[in-house]
Amino acid sequence: EQAEKGGFEHFMLKEIYEQPNALQRTLLGRTDRTGRNIVFENLGMSNAHIRDIEKITIIACGTAYHAGLVGKQLLERLTRIPVDVDVASEFRYRHPIITDKTLVIAVSQSGETADTLAALKEGRRLGARTLAITNVVGSTIAREADDVILTMAGPEISVASTKAYATQLLVFYMLAFYFARIRSTVSTPLLETYVAELHKVPELVGQILENHGQVKQYAESLKDKSSLFFIGRGLDYSVAMEGSLKLKEISYIHSEAYAAGELKHGTLSLVEEGTSVIALSTQEDLYEKMLGNVKEVKARGAEVYGIALADNRTFAKSVDNLYLLPNTLPLLTPIIAVIPLQLIAYYVSVQRGNDVDKPRNLAKSVTVE
Ligand code: G6P
Repeated sequence: EQAEKGGFEHFMLKEIYEQPNALQRTLLGRTDRTGRNIVFENLGMSNAHIRDIEKITIIACGTAYHAGLVGKQLLERLTRIPVDVDVASEFRYRHPIITDKTLVIAVSQSGETADTLAALKEGRRLGARTLAITNVVGSTIAREADDVILTMAGPEISVASTKAYATQLLVFYMLAFYFARIRSTVSTPLLETYVAELHKVPELVGQILENHGQVKQYAESLKDKSSLFFIGRGLDYSVAMEGSLKLKEISYIHSEAYAAGELKHGTLSLVEEGTSVIALSTQEDLYEKMLGNVKEVKARGAEVYGIALADNRTFAKSVDNLYLLPNTLPLLTPIIAVIPLQLIAYYVSVQRGNDVDKPRNLAKSVTVE
């Protein structure tokens, strides 16, 4: 087992560090000869079919569900197709509206999660076309779906998913760009800019991994907390949910992710002197709103750990600690913003002496409904 960890103390850390390569592999072969357009050559869906989609429903569990939340925002923003995201175990029981013009996308690292499989079958029974985004070739979900897009993350051993999530996000970007081109919902020059910037993401992830000193310090000061909040707006809110899940899974510290604008409608009552809040602010159009939300929690005595893009200077004055991410387009931040959150969860878990790769009560793949 030690040899398989390749010199890392845990599989989770190894897998976090494998992300630049996993992302590169997932990008590979998915652009046309010009390098400017995304293509999925093996997809059975014709262009006519893609133009015909009236609704997308994403189904998944756990971390894959969080990737779906980002996927929804990307697909809606870029293709203007309405998108639902459902926790797979809830999907069947809410009498979902599915027609033969619905595309059901099942996201599953293992391709074996029973709830996701059952939801996929239900989608198909109701007449939808189905697409699996999975990491395992030949898995049950891959076999059951009409189409498959593989994330090329390589085997993921740690129960807490990291590189699978990053590559699932990447697939959603590529899918949104691909559909947007076919449906002509985004101009060609803008799409080309997005694709070019997307190709830089693996390197940016690598830069973050090289400088992990500051997140280690964050982890040191958070390790004895009994509760913690993650806040963000828009894409940052979805990433906050994944950061919070990661921390809960392996550190056993209670945490909650909140849409920052929703705090004042209830949860602010939980914020008191010394409450720790991790605040993400990578969305330029929401900088001012996030500043307001940070002020709300600061005024109640919270200690705020900010995570922002390097060019977001105003945020620095409002938070207690600031972690700066390398600059990229606001649309592309989720894949890079999640990296420090994964590392915080990892180091907190290590410092608390937990079994990082095998957290209590959890399994890597859940094959019962
Ligand atoms: C389990 C794992 C989670 C994972 C979820 C979905 O609960 O502990 O880390 O996100 O299953 O797994 P899947 O293989 O379908 O992505």
